[in-house]
Amino acid sequence: MSIIVVEGGNRLEGKIKVQGSKNSLLPLLAATVSAAGTSVIHNCPRLTDIEAAIRILTYLGCCVVRQKDTVIVDSTNVDRCDIPDELMHEMRSSIIFLGPLIARFGRASLSTPGGCEIGSRPIDLHTASLRLLGAQIDEDGGHLECRCPCRLRGVKIDLSFPSVGATENIMIAAATAKGTTTITNAAREPEISDLACYLNASGAHIRGAGEGTITIDGTDGLSGCEHTVIPDRIVADTYMTAAAVTGGNIVLENIVPAHLSPMLFVFRESGCRIRLGGNTLWLKAPRRLERIRFIQTMPYPGFPTDAQANAMAMACTAKGRSVIVETIFESRFRHVDEFLKLGARITVEGRKAVVEGVPRLYGADVVTPDLRGGAALVAAGLAAEGVTKIRNVKLIDRGCESFEENLRLLGASVKREEYNESGNSTQPTLPAGAAGFRTEAVCR
Ligand code: UD1
Repeated sequence: MSIIVVEGGNRLEGKIKVQGSKNSLLPLLAATVSAAGTSVIHNCPRLTDIEAAIRILTYLGCCVVRQKDTVIVDSTNVDRCDIPDELMHEMRSSIIFLGPLIARFGRASLSTPGGCEIGSRPIDLHTASLRLLGAQIDEDGGHLECRCPCRLRGVKIDLSFPSVGATENIMIAAATAKGTTTITNAAREPEISDLACYLNASGAHIRGAGEGTITIDGTDGLSGCEHTVIPDRIVADTYMTAAAVTGGNIVLENIVPAHLSPMLFVFRESGCRIRLGGNTLWLKAPRRLERIRFIQTMPYPGFPTDAQANAMAMACTAKGRSVIVETIFESRFRHVDEFLKLGARITVEGRKAVVEGVPRLYGADVVTPDLRGGAALVAAGLAAEGVTKIRNVKLIDRGCESFEENLRLLGASVKREEYNESGNSTQPTLPAGAAGFRTEAVCR
């Protein structure tokens, strides 16, 4: 068990490079299954979720090599279309393998991922869309058995909600379908455009990614390609938050300014000065943040649900009342109870949280409720007086690479402590954030 220990009070200052996007890399890795060939993917962060995806790929028969931040996947000899339950349950987003497996084999056998920390996470939009493309899907007690007697056929799909995962599954499956598929009310997140870039470089014909309507002209087959993953906009937001709450002054490299624009109003309204140039961002925070009047999470280009906990960390010590409405996930206020332990004043009514900013938070023992909530608690701890201990940090390791190291580079006082099952302290055997990573070729 790992605990992150933060001693608050240091103003963050300095420069770091933002990691590659987890949410881009996961569907890209899944898509390699439908591209029979070799894909060379750069800017891959070392994260437990990525390692879980690599375990699925090797189970299916891919040969995977990691060289620093490059992952090379050879999917030529993929020969399995089932994913065991234990691999499916390691990572919620494993449903993203459904489209690629159906596209490559016309068959797939896997369990449903089920709910998670932030909500019930249904997959009805994924299955309904793949059925429209011609897949027969039997759902029985949490298990999916999928068959497609003949090749998938292009079709018009109107999503009732712009689901990111469903849009990705459709794009991958439709890339090798017969004929043209049109997705309306498609998700527009930058990760969708990144997936389209990868697929097009592998031989697909996809237009409109990043817009509400995506058109996919099916092709006979995909090969691999070389691709660089986009920077992680949510991790960038997390470091910006850590700097903002500490009155800091930081520089982030490896960002895409346009991808951050839905979050920038929060920092500007709270009094931070932001400058953007090329792939670099400068942020200078005031001594105390101003309130953020109203934030409502929305699909891109709205304010992202993944940055909601960060915004709340800022509102906790801002001057005055901030209102935050969560519209995407039904259980995404679980960090509120933990912020309260630090002395925050927050009331929640349904999907609305009202935050009365206090001059100061105080260190306490808190528990990571989910990946983004946990990272936001670390940021809040940096601004608190005294020591904050953040437990259950394995959830943070799913998405933030070298988190403590980066915060230390910015001048934070933060460390990781390891405990065994009896609660005794142990020395970490691997660098924090790199637990269990292989550095050599992995084939079945
Ligand atoms: C992705 C991101 C996640 C982010 C979310 C919303 C990855 C790996 N994860 O998750 O970090 O928080 O987008 O930006 O990219 N829904 C249904 N039926 C479905 C699918 C979704 O009702 O079949 C609902 C969900 O319950 C949720 C909403 O749609 O309320 C958004 O989900 P979706 O956009 O699909 O999120 P994910 O792709 O799971």
